[in-house]
Amino acid sequence: MGFIFQTFSSSIGKKMLMAASGSFLGLFILVHVVGNSTSFLGREVFLSYAHHLHSLGFLIPIFELTMLTVFSFHIVLALLLLLENRKARPQRYAVVNSRGGRSLGSKTMIYTGGIILVFVVVHLLNFHFINRDTPIADVVRNTLQQPGYAVFYIVGVLALGLHISHGFWSLFQSFGIEHPKYTSSLDRTAAISGLMVGLIFSLIPLLALLVPSFLL
Ligand code: HEM
Repeated sequence: MGFIFQTFSSSIGKKMLMAASGSFLGLFILVHVVGNSTSFLGREVFLSYAHHLHSLGFLIPIFELTMLTVFSFHIVLALLLLLENRKARPQRYAVVNSRGGRSLGSKTMIYTGGIILVFVVVHLLNFHFINRDTPIADVVRNTLQQPGYAVFYIVGVLALGLHISHGFWSLFQSFGIEHPKYTSSLDRTAAISGLMVGLIFSLIPLLALLVPSFLL
C-alpha cells in the first residue's frame, strides 16, 4: 500500500505510470494500424479482418473496459503532472535548453493529447456506437468520403503521430534507459514511429476521399 502511495505521490512515479499506460495504449495503436491497413487490400480482406475481430466474443467487452480505464488513467496522470509542473515552475524559463527532448512533440503534448481525446470520442460515435446492420466497410467509406470528416481524421491521426513521437522518447527517459551512444538512434526511432503511425492512418481518409472505388 505504501509503495502504491509513494509511486503516486512522486513526480517520477507518475511519469513511470504515464509511460506504462502510454505503452499499453501504444500497443493498441500498433494493432489497430496494422488491422486497418487491411483496407488497402480491398473490401473483402477488411471485412474478414473485422469479422475475425468480432469473433473474439466475450473478450471484447473486457478489452474495451481495460482500454477505457487505462485511457482515463493516462489523462488524469497527465493533468496531475501538468499542475505539478506549473506549481513548481510558475514562471517560464527565458531560455529553453534545446537538448533533453525539447521537440515540437514535447512542447505540444497537452494540445495533441486534447485533440486525440476529441478524436476518440467522435471516432467511437462514428464507428463503434452504430447500427451493426450496415457492413463496417460501408460505415468507414461513407464517413471518410465526407471532406469534413476526412480532414478531421487526418488532423487527428497526425496529432497522434506527434504525440507518439514524444511519448516513445519519454518512455525510455522515465525508466532511465539512456546512454549517449544510443540517444540519437532513440530520437530517430521515436520520430519515425510517430511519423509512420500518422502517415499510415491518414492514408485511409485520403484514399476514401480521392479514390471512388475505395472499400467498394
Ligand atoms: C483512419 C484512422 C482510423 C480508422 C479507419 C479506424 C477504424 C476503426 C473501426 C472500423 C473501428 C470499429 C471496429 C469494429 O467494431 O468493427 C474502430 C474502433 C476503434 N478505434 Fe479506430 N480507426 C482509426 C484510428 C483510430 C485511432 C487513431 C484511435 C486511437 C487514438 C482509434 C481508436 C479506436 C477505438 C478505441 C476503437 C474501439 C475498439 C472496440 O470496438 O473495441 N482508432 N476503429
